[in-house]
Amino acid sequence: MKSFGIALSLAATAMASPCPYGQLAERGALPEAEAKNFFAARAEGEAAVEAQMAAVKREEHAAQAKYYKRQLDLGELSLGGGLLNGVLQPFSGVLEALDVPTPQEFSLKEIPGDDAEHQYIKPAKSAVRGMCPTLNTMANHGYIDRSGITTFAQAANACQITLGFGYDTCVFLSALGLLAGGDLPSGKYSIGGADARVPDTLGPSLGISRHGFFEVDNSISRIDSYFGNQADFNLDRFNRLVSIADKYNGQFGNSAFAEERVLLYNEAKNNNPEFNAGVRWLGVTTAERVFIFRALPNGTEETNANFANIAPFYMNETFPHEWYRRATPYSLANTGTDIVTLLASSSELTVPGVNEGLNNFVPIGLDIGSLTPQEATCFLAQAVFDETPGFLAPGLIDNIDILNAFLNGALKPFFAPFNCAIGDNTPGANLTSNGAGPSDECNVLVNGVYQC
Ligand code: HEM
Ligand SMILES: *[C@@H]1O[C@H](CO)[C@@H](O)[C@H](O)[C@H]1NC(C)=O
Ligand SMILES: *[C@@H]1O[C@H](CO)[C@@H](O)[C@H](O)[C@H]1NC(C)=O
Ligand SMILES: *[C@@H]1O[C@H](CO)[C@@H](O)[C@H](O)[C@H]1NC(C)=O
Repeated sequence: MKSFGIALSLAATAMASPCPYGQLAERGALPEAEAKNFFAARAEGEAAVEAQMAAVKREEHAAQAKYYKRQLDLGELSLGGGLLNGVLQPFSGVLEALDVPTPQEFSLKEIPGDDAEHQYIKPAKSAVRGMCPTLNTMANHGYIDRSGITTFAQAANACQITLGFGYDTCVFLSALGLLAGGDLPSGKYSIGGADARVPDTLGPSLGISRHGFFEVDNSISRIDSYFGNQADFNLDRFNRLVSIADKYNGQFGNSAFAEERVLLYNEAKNNNPEFNAGVRWLGVTTAERVFIFRALPNGTEETNANFANIAPFYMNETFPHEWYRRATPYSLANTGTDIVTLLASSSELTVPGVNEGLNNFVPIGLDIGSLTPQEATCFLAQAVFDETPGFLAPGLIDNIDILNAFLNGALKPFFAPFNCAIGDNTPGANLTSNGAGPSDECNVLVNGVYQC
């Protein structure tokens, strides 16, 4: 399978010098003869990489064009969208004002560095923050609107710019945010609870903190919504993760999360009568864990997911001091691979299912015992396209045609290479949770404690 993520990661390899030796050479810190050898070797390597990259890209773009044509023939792009040459095409009709994210360049880069526009400013009282530590951080640094009211395009662009996540992964995440609690025609959504600054064109826009669609049980540092505010940082829960990481050389890596997720699963299964571990739970809770050790380490040392790099995002909602983003884009295919490793490393199977009251766990019959990376990536697609009773924003339930046009135009093409069984993509319209997400007045987090 050749996803375009592979092409982008080759591109990034050619553009940056992730190797410390290369950085020394670039800075002029190597003896002249050594530097000359390095640049000569790299020039040769780059030509080879570029040729290979161009070939992969041509193939992908051809596949995208073919898929685009098929979508047109099937009438799936009724409101525009679709993927051509690695870029989403504009929307039309009711979605005309919905801006699409644009692919960004990838390279090792200090974030925010000395960029005056993007220094930390503590959130204003009127600003919204929620349960995604990285969105909160992006807002505190003005990579998305400091108010915490963002858009589909803005958050997907910031996700690439600040974390070096791939176009596909960032578009997917931001689309999920928009669908969970935003206003589809304008693309606006609140990164916390419902907010008057987000229009209600199709129905109430409730914000991404709303439980059920994107916000799920078993979050890393937030409690299950059954027990209270599911958006606020919970220091005890985070500290417990820290002590688990301590057992693994202080690494917030795959092994620590394999242990932590089993602990949280059993805890919720035994104590939360409404514990919901469905398809969305599977996709979201596994992805958010692998994201930590793929996005938050210093790009200069990509495998070192230590406290110094992880904690500032969580406890202060700011980038670590002198922090570099990853140099190569992290794709949906990469995510699927990491999810499989995480599940395979877990000491228990964590069977997906739902508590219908305590001591009454009903499995949903999903076998996650031996997934392939491709199947794991498809669970991400199913988190959106799934037909089981869902928790879609109320306005979308009454506008399934618009919803489907968006899904077809903005998301389906990214999953085409994985051959996911995503059926007729009408997400379940059963709204079991329609309350607005919690939005706190108190949104300044310093060292893990809210300052009011
Ligand atoms: C760009 C749009 C994004 C949106 C709309 C979004 C939204 C969300 C939502 C709704 C949750 C709650 C999930 C839950 O209930 O457990 C969440 C959690 C999380 N997100 Fe994001 N996210 C985005 C991007 C990212 C990126 C790029 C990363 C990469 C590190 C990331 C990392 C996390 C982590 C680690 C959590 C778990 C928080 C915790 O419980 O400790 N998010 N995000
Ligand atoms: C958070 O910020 C406070 C105040 O600036 C600082 O003392 C603390 O070390 C920071 N915590 C982390 C984990 O970076
Ligand atoms: C990141 O790496 C750079 C270069 O090695 C280093 O100067 C900086 O202190 C590191 N920052 C963190 C937070 O690890
Ligand atoms: C929602 O789901 C419940 C339980 O699955 C079912 O009894 C109810 O009829 C559904 N409501 C709608 C509107 O589909």
